[in-house]
This record gives sequence, structure tokens and C-alpha cells, in this order.
Amino acid sequence: MNASEKAGSIRFENVIKNYGQVTAVKDLSLDLEPGKLITLLGPSGCGKTTTLRLIAGLEMASAGSIFVGGKDVTNLTATYRNVSMVFQSYALFPHMSVFENVSYGLKVSAVPSAETRERAQDALAMVGLAGFGERLPSELSGGQQQRVAVARAIVLEPEVLLLDEPLSNLDAKLRRSVREDIRAIQQKLGITVVYVTHDQEEAMAVSDQIIVMRNAGIEQIGSPRDLYLQPVSAFIADFIGDANVVDCDISDVKDGIAEIQFGSASYRIAIEGEIPTQSRLVIRPETIRLSSYSESCRISGEVGYAAYLGNQVQYTIHTELTDLFVIDNRMDGYFPIGSRVSLDLDDSRLCLVEV
Ligand SMILES: Nc1ncnc2c1ncn2[C@@H]1O[C@H](COP(=O)(O)OP(=O)(O)OP(=O)(O)O)[C@@H](O)[C@H]1O
Ligand SMILES: [Mg+2]
Repeated sequence: MNASEKAGSIRFENVIKNYGQVTAVKDLSLDLEPGKLITLLGPSGCGKTTTLRLIAGLEMASAGSIFVGGKDVTNLTATYRNVSMVFQSYALFPHMSVFENVSYGLKVSAVPSAETRERAQDALAMVGLAGFGERLPSELSGGQQQRVAVARAIVLEPEVLLLDEPLSNLDAKLRRSVREDIRAIQQKLGITVVYVTHDQEEAMAVSDQIIVMRNAGIEQIGSPRDLYLQPVSAFIADFIGDANVVDCDISDVKDGIAEIQFGSASYRIAIEGEIPTQSRLVIRPETIRLSSYSESCRISGEVGYAAYLGNQVQYTIHTELTDLFVIDNRMDGYFPIGSRVSLDLDDSRLCLVEV
């Protein structure tokens, strides 16, 4: 059995979803391993929710095939897929208690009442809400309501759990703790979770794999580390973390090393595969090292802006080529606005992307 036939695996083969004239998803092919937390990340309108609804069977594909656990579910509606979805708005039943909300799906499926009670209580304990069963949703905080919605989905023991922007109604502190809870539950149950967000930090924090979507298609798939260190395009470099994406000249390419000119300085960058015909250089702000100006430096500049943030200083440095955004988190010096500085780039942390 290969990975894409195991319970919890998801495969899309050339899936298209049109709404009238709008193509919400275009020619999407995917092969997702079971038991992982995979995030769909991308700007508003890029097709994240539509992709999730296609997995759930809440939308039918206009073309292509969808497999869950190796089974062709393309023409099956939601009821016949072993998939649960948590909606952004939670959609809890306001007049039912927490326990009734969580046990509702089991009741509808005619699971015996003793088993229903046990499974609902287990699910509530799993999300840290044992003892909250008698309350109404209105008697809970936003984060607790969110966890009831997760309990209501996992009680059905789905192969795949889908979460659409699950943290968007929560404040910053709660977002962090609920996202850790979701990750812990996913790991404990070993189920496949597909998680939608447009927040790159959240995606980096919880995911095994991130699918970055753009204009109804996939721009890049990879681990958080891959996306940060090896972005394939200027869009990814800019979307995942901060980046200076600047023009450069490639003077030579040999044995997997590109020699590039950035102003009067040259750098050697390891490259994999074909070099894009139109390349730009990605410089992460935290990889630029500032020091007091010295005549022998390769790049010099003047501090245009400096912001002290406690754990880091953020600078905008005017250089002869372009302005560079620099984050100094070593905190071993402070360069006031107007001072002359030398900039050191680390060849091994530079990469080239397609324009
Ligand atoms: N029922 C619908 N009818 C027509 N167009 C739709 C429908 N649902 C979505 N769309 C369009 O499909 C595209 C993708 O929408 P989708 O909801 O998947 O985006 P999204 O990535 O989830 O965005 P957001 O981050 O804003 O939630 C958008 O252009 C949207 O306007
Ligand atoms: Mg959406």
C-alpha cells in the first residue's frame, strides 16, 4: 500500500472548481501524507476555503478527482466522507448545552447512548473542557467555544479534520494557546488535519507542511523550514517572514554555485536545479550584520531609521543600491539614525528567486 492509499491520506488529481466565471481552484494536484498537520496559507481569495470544502464534500469539483484514504470520493457528498470540518464561526447550537453540542453528531448517527456519553466526555476532556458539559455556549469564553467546536468534530473520529481559520476570533494570547492545543490533539490522535490560515506565523508554528496558495493554485509546498530557507519565488520570500528582495547580477554559474554581484560586492550562492532566467536576491533581515563603518567593507550605508523593540533593533539602512531592512537581535550595539555602518552578508544565508 503506498502512502496515498492509507487512512487519512488526501489526493487531488487536477482538481478544478469554478463558480460561474470565477475559477476558485485551478488544476490542483496534491498528495498529502496521513497523520500530519498541513496548512493552507495564502492571501484572501486565493482558494483556501474552497479547497477545504472540496475535501469535506461541501463543494463538488468541476473537474478532476479527489481521494480520501485511497477511496475515490469525488462524487460523494459530505455525509459519505469520513471527514469533519470546524467552521470559522464555530457554528455551535446556542440553545444546546456543551455536552449536547458535542454529542449531537453521534446521536444523529444512532450511536447507543452509553457510548455517546463516554465518547463526548472523552472528547471534552481531550480539549481541556471536562466538567463544562452542562454550560451553554454563551456561558463560555471565545477560546472555550472554539474548543467545543473542535471536540464536536473529533468525537466523530474522522480520518481527516478540517479547520477553517480556527483562531481568527481570538485575541493574540489565546491564539497561541489554542493553536498549541490543536497541535497537541492532532499529535495525540494521529489524524490528518488540514488547517486554513492567512497568518504566516501561525502556519509556521503548527505545521508539518505548508501549502502556499496564490491565485487559485499552489505556489510552493514544503516544511516551514524549506519555505523560509528555500523560497521559490519573490512572492513566497515576501509572504513567509520578512525579506529584502533586491536586484542583482549573476556573473557566473558553475557546479551548483552562482556568483552574483550586488553593487561592488560579490557573493557565492549554492543553487539547486535550473537557475531562474530572471533572478532576484533574497536577503533575510536578521542575516545582515551591522558594524561601525570601515573603509574595507563590501557594502556601506547610513542608518535611515532605527526602532528599539527590547529583544531586537529594527533598522532601515540606505545603501548606494537600495534600502535594506535589518533586524539586529544580537543586541550588541546600537547605531543611531544618521550613523555610517558596514553591512556584512552571509553567503550561505542568501538565495535567488524567480521574479
Ligand atoms: N459560492 C461562491 N460563488 C462564487 N464565487 C465564490 C464562491 N465561493 C468563493 N468564491 C470565489 O472564489 C475565490 C476563492 O474563494 P475562497 O473562499 O476559497 O478564498 P479564501 O482563500 O478562503 O479567502 P479568505 O482568506 O478571504 O477566506 C474568491 O474569488 C471568491 O470570491
Ligand atoms: Mg476562507
